[in-house]
Amino acid sequence: MNRTPVIIGADEIRRQEDAAERIAALPNRPDSYHIVTYGCQMNAHDSETLAGLLESMGLEETPDRTTADLVLFNTCCIRDNAERRALGNVTWLRQLKRSKPHLLIGVCGCMVQRPGMADRILRQYPFIDLAFGTHNLHQLPSMLYELLTRRERVIRVSSEDTAIAEGLPIKRASDSKAYLTVMYGCDNYCSYCIVPYVRGRERSRAMRDILAEAESLLRSGVQEITLLGQNVNSYGNGTDETFPALLRALDEMGVPRIRFMTSHPKDLSDGLIEAMARGSHICNHLHLPVQSGSDAILSAMNRRYTRERYLERVGALRRDVPGIGLTTDLIVGFPGETEEQFEQTVSLVQTVGYDSAYTFIYSPREGTAAARLGGRLPDDVSSQRIGRLIRAVEEGSQEAYRGMIGTVERVLVESISKRDASRVSGKGTRGITITLDGGPEDIGKIIPVRIRSAAVNTLRGERI
Ligand code: 5AD
Ligand code: SF4
Repeated sequence: MNRTPVIIGADEIRRQEDAAERIAALPNRPDSYHIVTYGCQMNAHDSETLAGLLESMGLEETPDRTTADLVLFNTCCIRDNAERRALGNVTWLRQLKRSKPHLLIGVCGCMVQRPGMADRILRQYPFIDLAFGTHNLHQLPSMLYELLTRRERVIRVSSEDTAIAEGLPIKRASDSKAYLTVMYGCDNYCSYCIVPYVRGRERSRAMRDILAEAESLLRSGVQEITLLGQNVNSYGNGTDETFPALLRALDEMGVPRIRFMTSHPKDLSDGLIEAMARGSHICNHLHLPVQSGSDAILSAMNRRYTRERYLERVGALRRDVPGIGLTTDLIVGFPGETEEQFEQTVSLVQTVGYDSAYTFIYSPREGTAAARLGGRLPDDVSSQRIGRLIRAVEEGSQEAYRGMIGTVERVLVESISKRDASRVSGKGTRGITITLDGGPEDIGKIIPVRIRSAAVNTLRGERI
């Protein structure tokens, strides 16, 4: 359910802008920063806001974390290994701090928001100067000001999880591609997932704010906008501001390419399929996480769709949106998953034929419903299953790629190819990486190519 969000007031935003100005004038402030980002696109985009805020305080980005005065870790907690990796890297910086005492270390994002984490940081990580949760991001200027002027550690984790901050500065990583958040939080409570606990309640931005941001991106020459939300299909404020309506408005505005993620299969409406089918700028790609092919496991996961319903939605998408490519997320080793149930996931992957998939071994997250279930699977069973699943995904993907040979794709060129400096690489509308002959002058342009051959995870194209 979408709640009417609380918009963080203009006076609070102004207070933060004042703090930013005061920091810029401080003689002892850090000159440079480096942000290390873990996790999903939402986090990557939050890091762009953190960078925007830090630049408003006069700091400059440095590509090397060992030369920065402030290193900020924007963390993820979706699986245990994401957390361990972040904490390992934070601890590694502790050595550097011994030889560089003015170094400031900050940690923020989902891991910090997890219950009990702030306490742990306070006690076990004394070298962390600044820690804040997902709901405190907009307060970075006042927190940093407090740290610099009082010289005391600042740890702030708010439980206010229904608010939206508008108008924060954003330093985007790319000139041609941009993330645009449409909604925050998640109310789905899939039984394995920590996200609703750390990202707060579902809340949507007003359509006029989203369209204004899109217009300014368009004016600055952006070629592709990716709309972000944990479950974009439930975008809306209980009014006519629905996700298909938002897509139509952006399509009419003339944004050259529109993508969006993530879509929950239970909310994938006919209206959305129609908007994708009719739009001239909406990419023919959908990331549609299925998680499992077994009805019993889907029910235990609280996903609220069946295998049959999922396949019916895939059929409708393939029928109405020509050449659509599908990608997905899959979890193996959910508590109690039997061999037959796992085989149903493999067979679903074979039936759908995904362009690619993210595959995960189930990781119990404290506080979620599934963490209280018995029937944990031994590690070797899960590892063996994920290996088999990856092979099934690859077979489907190779078949899909081979089927594209001879077709025309429009590539938004992003970079010089790492393997061959006379080639450039970018993505077609289906989201698949395609390489072609070219040079730096092509970066940021959309170039039509004919697909000539398929490799693992990339297609080779030729300009037409
Ligand atoms: N264990 C393993 N994978 C998980 N995901 C979310 N929570 C867990 C967990 N506890 C996966 C889901 C989701 C993706 C972002 O991460 O597949 O779609
Ligand atoms: Fe997690 Fe489910 Fe929400 Fe996705 S829809 S963020 S998997 S709870």
